[in-house]
Amino acid sequence: MQTYIKDLSQHVEQTVVLNGWVSNKRTSGKVAFLVLRDGSGFAQCVVDLATAGEENLERAKRLTLESAIKIHGKVLRDEKQEGGFEIQVTDLHIYSIAEEYPLGKKEHGVDFLMNNRHLWLRTKRQWAIMKVRNSALFAIHRFFQSRGFMQMDSPILTGNACEGTTTLFDTIFYKDDLPAYLSQSGQLYAEATAMAMGKVYTFGPTFRAERSLTPRHLSEFWMIEPEMAFYDLEMNMNLIEEFVRTVVTDVYTECKDELVNILERKTALFDNIHQPFPRIEYDRAVRIIRGEEEVDGKNAIKELEADLEGVRQVIADKQQSLADYEQKLQTPNLKKGEVNYFQSKIDGLKNDLKKLEDDARNIPQWLESARNFPPGEDFGAPDEKALTRLFDLPVFVYKWPSPIKAFYMKRYEDDDNYVKGVDLLAPEGFGEIVGGSQREDDIEKLIERIKEHELPMEAFEWYLDLRRYGSVPHAGFGLGFERLVMWLTGVSHIRETIPFPRYFGRLFP
Ligand code: 4AD
Ligand code: MG
Repeated sequence: MQTYIKDLSQHVEQTVVLNGWVSNKRTSGKVAFLVLRDGSGFAQCVVDLATAGEENLERAKRLTLESAIKIHGKVLRDEKQEGGFEIQVTDLHIYSIAEEYPLGKKEHGVDFLMNNRHLWLRTKRQWAIMKVRNSALFAIHRFFQSRGFMQMDSPILTGNACEGTTTLFDTIFYKDDLPAYLSQSGQLYAEATAMAMGKVYTFGPTFRAERSLTPRHLSEFWMIEPEMAFYDLEMNMNLIEEFVRTVVTDVYTECKDELVNILERKTALFDNIHQPFPRIEYDRAVRIIRGEEEVDGKNAIKELEADLEGVRQVIADKQQSLADYEQKLQTPNLKKGEVNYFQSKIDGLKNDLKKLEDDARNIPQWLESARNFPPGEDFGAPDEKALTRLFDLPVFVYKWPSPIKAFYMKRYEDDDNYVKGVDLLAPEGFGEIVGGSQREDDIEKLIERIKEHELPMEAFEWYLDLRRYGSVPHAGFGLGFERLVMWLTGVSHIRETIPFPRYFGRLFP
C-alpha cells in the first residue's frame, strides 16, 4: 500500500512504499541520494549498495530529474534531513525516465518560468504556495459554514455590470443586441440569495478586463463574497475582521513549516493579527497619507523618507561586500569549492541589489504621490503603502466619497457626499484585499444611482425587485482570494498565487 511523505512520522522504523518524482539527485560511488517528491512533501531517499543491492543502485544512477519511481524502503528518523526523516531504499522501480528537464537547477527568468508554468508548479516554492492556497480555501469554507452561511453560486455569464463598465469582458453569444458579460463580481446575485437564505457567500471566478500590468491584478481571479440580510456597515466590518483573523490564524497553524521555512514569510503578520484592526475614515486616511496628521507620533511621509535613507544605506553596505567578494575571487589558486562559494555570494548580492535599487527608485515616487495626494480620489498602491506602513496590521478605511464608489453603495443619511463603503488594506505593501459596503435599500435612491452611472435600467429590473419585495438593510464584501494568498505567502507578484494565472498578455499554458 502506498504511503505519502507527509505521513512518514506514523511509519518510523517500518518499511513503506512511496510513489513520486526525483526532484534532486546526488551520487557518489556506492550510494545515490534522491530527493523524492510525491505532492504531499519532499523526502531524502538513500540507495546504497549494501542495503539496496547492485541492480537497484544501477537503476538509481540512471535516474534523471523528474523521473517517476516507486520505492520500498525503511523510514529512519533523521533530524538533519528535510521533514525529519530519511528513507533507506530496499527496492526501486522506474515508471518512466524523464527527458532532460528544462527547469534545471540554474536560475531562470520570469518569462521562461511562466511559459513553463505547468512544470514550474512542481518546484518546492510553488508547491508551498499552492498548499497555502488550499489551506486558505478550506479555512474560508469552514469559517462561513460554521456560522450558518450558505454557499450560493452566482452565474459567470451575466447581463449587467456590477463594478463599472470599463473592465467588462463581453461575449456576443445570446443575441447580437444582448451582450453577455463575464461576471466582475457575484455580489448582485448574492444580494438576491441573501434575501432568500439570510446569510450567504459566493466563492467563484470573476473577470476584469484590465490592461494595466501590475503585481496585484489578474484578469481572472477568485472572489469570496458574503452577503448578509439585516447587517449594517459596522456589523460588516466586525465580520470582515473576524473572518480575516480566523483565516490567517488557521492557515498559519496548518502551514507554518511551508510559510516559515520554505517561503521565508516574515511572521509579524501572524503575531499582530490578534490585535484589533484600526478603522479610519477616508478623510482622516487622506490627511495621514499627506503627512498632515500623525499616528502615535509617526508621520507617513517621514517614515517613507526614513525607509529611503535605510535602503540607501543597505545598498552602500551590499556594494561594499560585493566589491570584497569580487576581489577575493581574483585570489590566485582558489579551490573549486571556494570559487563556487564566492560566486554564489556575488550572485546573491547582485540579486539583492537589484531589488534594493528598485526600491531606491520607487520610494521617491511614492513620497511624491503621498505628499500630493488629491483628496476625493481613490488610493493607489503607494498611498496604501504610506498608510498601512504606520500600523503593521490590516487597516479599515471607510466612509468613502460617493463619486468614486459603485452605484449600489448606501449613502450616509446625514451626508450624501459619502457612502457606507469599506476597504481593508493589508500591511507590508500588499494593499487592498477586501472591498465591501452596506447596500442601498431604498428603491428611489437606487434608481437615481443607476441613472447617474448611465447603466441600462432594464438589466437591473430584477435587482430592483429585491427593494420592491421586503427590502431590508443589508451588507456584504468581496475578498480577492489571490490577494489574500499573496499576502499570506508574502510573494511579491500575484501570478504565483494561482495555478494558471491569466493577466493581460498571458493565456498559455
Ligand atoms: O473592490 P472590488 O471591486 O469589490 C467588488 O467587486 C464588490 N462587488 C465586492 C462586494 O462587496 N461583494 O473587488 C473586491 C476585491 C478587491 O478588494 C481585491 O482584493 C480583489 O477583489 N480584486 C482583484 N484581485 C485580483 N485581480 C484584480 N484585477 C482584482 N480586482 C479586484
Ligand atoms: Mg475595491
